[in-house]
Amino acid sequence: MPTLKIDGKEITVEPGTLVIEAACRLGVSIPHFCYHRKLSIAGNCRMCLVEVEKMPKPQISCNLPCTEGMVVHTQSENAKKWRKNVLEFILVNHPIDCPVCDQAGECKLHDYYLSESVKGSRFEEEKVHKLKKYELGPEVMLDDERCIMCSRCIRFCNEISKTNELGFIQRGNHVELRPFPGRKLDNAYSVNTVDICPVGALTSRDFRFKQRVWFLQSADSICTGCSTGCNIKLQHNKGIVYRYLPRQNEAVNQVWLCDKGRLSYKEINDENRLLLPEKKSEGTWQIMGPEGTLLELSQVLKEKAADSLLAIASAQSSNENIFAFKKFARALNAKAVLASSRREVKDPDSDDFLIKADKNPNSFGVEKLGFKKKASFSKAKVVLVLGEMNEADQKKLTDLNAELIIVFSSHKNSCSELAHWKIPVTLFAEEEGSFCNFEGRVQKFNAALKAKGQMKPAWVWLKDLAKKVGVEMKFSSAEELLKEGFKLDYKDLGVEGKVV
Ligand code: SF4
Ligand code: SF4
Ligand code: FES
Repeated sequence: MPTLKIDGKEITVEPGTLVIEAACRLGVSIPHFCYHRKLSIAGNCRMCLVEVEKMPKPQISCNLPCTEGMVVHTQSENAKKWRKNVLEFILVNHPIDCPVCDQAGECKLHDYYLSESVKGSRFEEEKVHKLKKYELGPEVMLDDERCIMCSRCIRFCNEISKTNELGFIQRGNHVELRPFPGRKLDNAYSVNTVDICPVGALTSRDFRFKQRVWFLQSADSICTGCSTGCNIKLQHNKGIVYRYLPRQNEAVNQVWLCDKGRLSYKEINDENRLLLPEKKSEGTWQIMGPEGTLLELSQVLKEKAADSLLAIASAQSSNENIFAFKKFARALNAKAVLASSRREVKDPDSDDFLIKADKNPNSFGVEKLGFKKKASFSKAKVVLVLGEMNEADQKKLTDLNAELIIVFSSHKNSCSELAHWKIPVTLFAEEEGSFCNFEGRVQKFNAALKAKGQMKPAWVWLKDLAKKVGVEMKFSSAEELLKEGFKLDYKDLGVEGKVV
């Protein structure tokens, strides 16, 4: 275990640890472009230069293993001068079009320009001009002039997506990034190249020019695109979600997302969101107030639910809502049949990396809480539905011809149209809760947006409704429900979640 000093601070590290990583552990951030923890070392940008005593030349800290007795200076006059010169060189042909660049606000080049004190430009010749708008693939746009040839995107395609689409052509300052002939940057994980591009060369065709990033607020959340449960930062402004970014969880998605999951945020902004309670009256939908809804529903449930009750919970719903739903159904009728319904897509994609064929975030949780996939729908007179149902289950529900169907739904869709009552509930983006991913890992998501209209978390509606029916459900937060259902507090989940 070598012990070394970095900027006067001593640290002992495992053999093979790189100086850039040892420095990071000490809270010393060494500027870098090409180095990325999840990729092989390229050592091509030279931005991470440091001075090491007894070594005559500048050293790149991203490819320098720590050794016993090493003394490293990241802030010596030499180290600062070397990095400043490297940065000036990188900027020679850079277009400096920051005001119209989508990366502004989260650009490493911009940040280091300020931190490494480069002032003005001494370059008087005409810069090399390249393409400003090259469609690299269906999701990614390239501005060749901004590329600093760090090769992160190329290494991502070679080492992570293993699709090998990209390479450099030409030489010297005429180098350009290109897909191989006849190919595009078109793989299931392509937008990760945008995340790891340290400058504004690669931009997401979905997100570019929609928002300045400094207006965005961020909440830690979970992707609902499949049962992997990748950790995300859900970024939004004024009630609209603009993008998902990966959030590091080494036990789940490391630092990556698939493109489909990343774009699944659009469901939250959908114009078909259900905002107010509605009651079907003589074939047409009538908008109801929350109090009237609770009163009428409680009366009709008191009359009918004791006969035969079917409760169908979606694998898209959170653990907390499903557990409250179960308690409510059991309170109305101890023998209530508990069924689950999963979102199903035709020919679901999957791979051996992140993408799962099960396109539900909580199939594990809904089953664990006792809702059976193959439960019988027969004979039920009253049906409660939490969330959406797949087409086959919708057909079974239609055939059932039940006397009363109440759907707690986030959207107006083919499932809520089957109901006699539809009750507006929040989505994961508007409430706090948790999902169990495919391996039973309970992971928390946080409320990012304010609920619109009369939307409420399903568990709030159910608690209020239970009270009107004359049953007390003793919980007052989502966390209490998780505690009762899974014997876990949110703090028990930590950063990697907890397998149950
Ligand atoms: S496009 Fe971005 S990630 Fe790719 S080589 Fe250029 S600067 Fe690096
Ligand atoms: S792999 Fe699944 S959970 Fe992860 S980003 Fe894609 S759809 Fe979302
Ligand atoms: S980060 Fe070390 S050479 Fe690029």
